[in-house]
Amino acid sequence: MSRSAHPAGPRHADVLPEGHYTAPPADINALDPKVWSRTVTRTPEGAVSVGGIDVTRLAEEFGTPAYFIDEDDFRARAQAWRTAFGEGADVFYAGKAFLSRAIVRWLHEEGLNLDVCSGGELATALSAGMPAERIAFHGNNKSAAEIEKAVSVGVGHIVLDSFQEIVRVAHIAEQLGKRQRVLIRVTVGVEAHTHEFIATAHEDQKFGIALADGQAAEAVRRALKLDGLELVGIHSHIGSQIFDMAGFEVAARRVVSLLAEIRDEHGVELPEIDLGGGLGIAYTSDDDPREPHEIAKALGEIVTRECEAAGLRTPRISVEPGRAIVGPTAFTLYEVGTIKPLDGLRTYVSVDGGMSDNIRTALYDAEYSVSLASRTSDAEPMLVRVVGKHCESGDIVVRDAFLPSDLAPGDLIAVPATGAYCRSMASNYNHALRPPVVAVRDGEARVIVRRETEEDLLRLDVG
Ligand code: LLP
Repeated sequence: MSRSAHPAGPRHADVLPEGHYTAPPADINALDPKVWSRTVTRTPEGAVSVGGIDVTRLAEEFGTPAYFIDEDDFRARAQAWRTAFGEGADVFYAGKAFLSRAIVRWLHEEGLNLDVCSGGELATALSAGMPAERIAFHGNNKSAAEIEKAVSVGVGHIVLDSFQEIVRVAHIAEQLGKRQRVLIRVTVGVEAHTHEFIATAHEDQKFGIALADGQAAEAVRRALKLDGLELVGIHSHIGSQIFDMAGFEVAARRVVSLLAEIRDEHGVELPEIDLGGGLGIAYTSDDDPREPHEIAKALGEIVTRECEAAGLRTPRISVEPGRAIVGPTAFTLYEVGTIKPLDGLRTYVSVDGGMSDNIRTALYDAEYSVSLASRTSDAEPMLVRVVGKHCESGDIVVRDAFLPSDLAPGDLIAVPATGAYCRSMASNYNHALRPPVVAVRDGEARVIVRRETEEDLLRLDVG
């Protein structure tokens, strides 16, 4: 991600690598709509508010740390994807980004489908009333029990990820007297420009079946022979937090050329292609994400053009956005505990959460923004590192940012764009109690996932 050159201000060349932080913002109290959800604003008194409720009230009622999700923003983003792709396509929200029963109900109401990748996500989806036929089941190593459950409840499709799974799913479906609709996940050999751990279309990795060397064509051959399977399409997911459309376009082109090969060899035109998720969002003001309608247009055009060239009927397209729907809709609210200024270097600001509620900074070197949320300030900006309360120095929430220099213990600070892969990847490290998720809308706030308690922790400890 691009970062501008060093600003004037506290730094130490040996410690702070060139280009790792931006200049202080022109107005440190401003809330950039790129990174904050749509109902976030400041009250006349200066506190950040969401859905018409200010954070001091939210902190009093729900405590900190806590995730606050802007329900209107979530529904609007879900709807924007739905509308952009229209009736001829399907949008599957990727539950791994964040899933709870309220989320499932919102998705259902907004007309989206759901991608799950474990028995736990499937159970959550079903328990909140998502119709099974609107669920897709993913994963590179689904257990027999998970496959049995998915087939017997009648999920819309299962995405087959390996040669073994082709046989396993077919066998289980036959035993249950069913014919399961399936897609085959292929790796198209694209190098997505994102962090190595979240790039998934190059061949040297665990997911999918390579297009190269005819592996995917062989998988199709085998799947078409099995009575328990109804092969309906091909799936590709190239990675996550991607800004460059080129990777998606290459993937679409290669998937369509596989459809043409299948038609030539077997005389069947598979009716569906799924191009996965992966669209990037703004974590800082430097990021410029694509809008759903731009993505829909680019993908629709390329698939149509390639299909026309190959003499194929245009298949139904599916996409699986996770982060791009839920990521920007939530922020994490923390209370400042201790402040440690290091002269000429930076100031460490410790908050009451950390890597247990946001592992992304430690794991992917992710960048986040942060704002003083309980008040505004006219003080000079200071370079800070926001850190957690865990027992390791890699416990960083925001690596480099600016906060007002009169910041004090007890102030509330908020980290925006934490809706995706924060609560869903939260841990109990150091026996931290995972924070609640609170939905806010039209002046009302309600807990959708409650805060963990010490009792919850001890209930599992049966030794
Ligand atoms: N479809 C499939 C098959 C996937 O594997 C994923 C994400 C998605 C859709 C949704 O991707 P999204 O639109 O959310 O980028 N924990 C990492 C992200 C891992 C993504 C895994 N798969 C992070 O925090 O950045």
